[in-house]
Amino acid sequence: MFHVPSSEELHSWKLYSETLLQWHRQEGIKKGFELQTLGETNGLPLWLLRPAEIGPGPRLLIAGTFHGEEPCGAWSILKFLMDEHDALEKLNVSFLPLVNPTGFAAASRYNFRGENPNRHFAKGVKDSPPLSLEGSLLVRHLDLLLTLGHDGFLSLHEDSSQTKSYLFTFEQAKTPGPFSRALLAALARHFPLLETGFYEECDVKDGLIFNDFDQSFEDLLFQSGVPLTACSETPCLCSPESRIACNVDVIVTFLAFVRDRALPISS
Ligand code: NI
Repeated sequence: MFHVPSSEELHSWKLYSETLLQWHRQEGIKKGFELQTLGETNGLPLWLLRPAEIGPGPRLLIAGTFHGEEPCGAWSILKFLMDEHDALEKLNVSFLPLVNPTGFAAASRYNFRGENPNRHFAKGVKDSPPLSLEGSLLVRHLDLLLTLGHDGFLSLHEDSSQTKSYLFTFEQAKTPGPFSRALLAALARHFPLLETGFYEECDVKDGLIFNDFDQSFEDLLFQSGVPLTACSETPCLCSPESRIACNVDVIVTFLAFVRDRALPISS
């Protein structure tokens, strides 16, 4: 059973890593998960948790806590793994549970070098600033991550100044489709959505920012051929418990959407 971290525990890398490693030893291996390290950032690992064997179903990738002051993404993946594993049925799901461990430990948006791990993933952009250390590690393993996330990618973010939630999605369409609507509905079950208007230079419509090519990792994966990518934002001004419950719902909704769509339609 998952234990919701107290406010003192929310940024404890020690507690997070011990809980993840213990879960992997006791349950994850039996469930076919392999825990790899893509590299280190100031001595802390950037983990990849992936199925040891890939089956015939869709392949999805889910990431938590690119920004260290957004801790509930990482915790939500842990809760999902501990409490909601039935949702993995007929799917091959991999996780980057904690992308920015040094930022997480310091409760800082940026990594220990002051770099933003979710920016400058430019595809075909000239003179883009250099990638962060975490970004370089992800790009070094891009072929593997594109294989594991072939059918969809979800990144769990939070907004430190908000009481409302919102969503970024990328779809190969002019207007948002059922994928965007399903994830938005999951957020709306837990928090009010950000109203329509401009927010941090983004055009928001009913809580959704659609196909905004911002050189984030979700943008890079979309432009590299992943058909559906998303970044959800839960409000840091609300309780960790409510944000974790919301993120788990978003994960389950994401998986159910892809699984249902992949099933052959019977007449
Ligand atoms: Ni963020």
